[in-house]
Amino acid sequence: DRRIKIAPSILSADFANFGQEIQAIESQGADWVHVDVMDGHFVPNITFGPATCKAIRPHIKGVMDVHLMISPVDSYIDAFAQSGADFITAHLEAGPHIHRTLQAIRATGAKAGLALNPGTPVEAAKGLLDDVDLVCVMTVNPGFGGQKFIMSQIEKIRSLRSMIGDRPVHIEIDGGVDPNTAPLVAEAGADVLVAGSAVFKGGSVSNSAPYGENIRAI
Ligand code: DX5
Ligand code: ZN
Repeated sequence: DRRIKIAPSILSADFANFGQEIQAIESQGADWVHVDVMDGHFVPNITFGPATCKAIRPHIKGVMDVHLMISPVDSYIDAFAQSGADFITAHLEAGPHIHRTLQAIRATGAKAGLALNPGTPVEAAKGLLDDVDLVCVMTVNPGFGGQKFIMSQIEKIRSLRSMIGDRPVHIEIDGGVDPNTAPLVAEAGADVLVAGSAVFKGGSVSNSAPYGENIRAI
């Protein structure tokens, strides 16, 4: 199913109202909810962990897409699986044993995602495409929302799409996705578009921000 899915990232949402923000974006067209976990070690920012994922899970009707920007990863996989994550995505760069990490994620019953930083060649994913359900191509350096899209990653998306062939593997794009960059990545072969600032700009649910308009614009 190559229909384009929009996965708003709650990194740009109102941290004091996650439940309401999630209900707002899902009622206004979000397909997945992208949850950016950061540990202040793998990336220079700290957001939240399994407890927050567990707390927001009941408010998510659709897919909870957990993006782990943490290192090491393996000791936290069970906690994120138990929090109710549908997808658990780990960074290839987070440690020396990514294949083991992907197996551990799948062993919990969650779907496994592999995230590649802008500096990581797409060939790194070559031997892992039967061990993943999703490859997340970072189009910004992870850690913050609202950054500029890195155009050089578009060729990586195209190469990845041909490497994946007819495997049931999503290509998720994460960082700087907005109405200008979305068509470029969709044309290159992406099918899940993460968007934080492009969706949540205009303030929080308390002032009935135009989430639906922002989502449809992408
Ligand atoms: C960055 C996160 C992204 C980020 C996207 O480290 O992984 O998901 O929230 O935010 P925007 O869409 O504002 O670039
Ligand atoms: Zn993310």
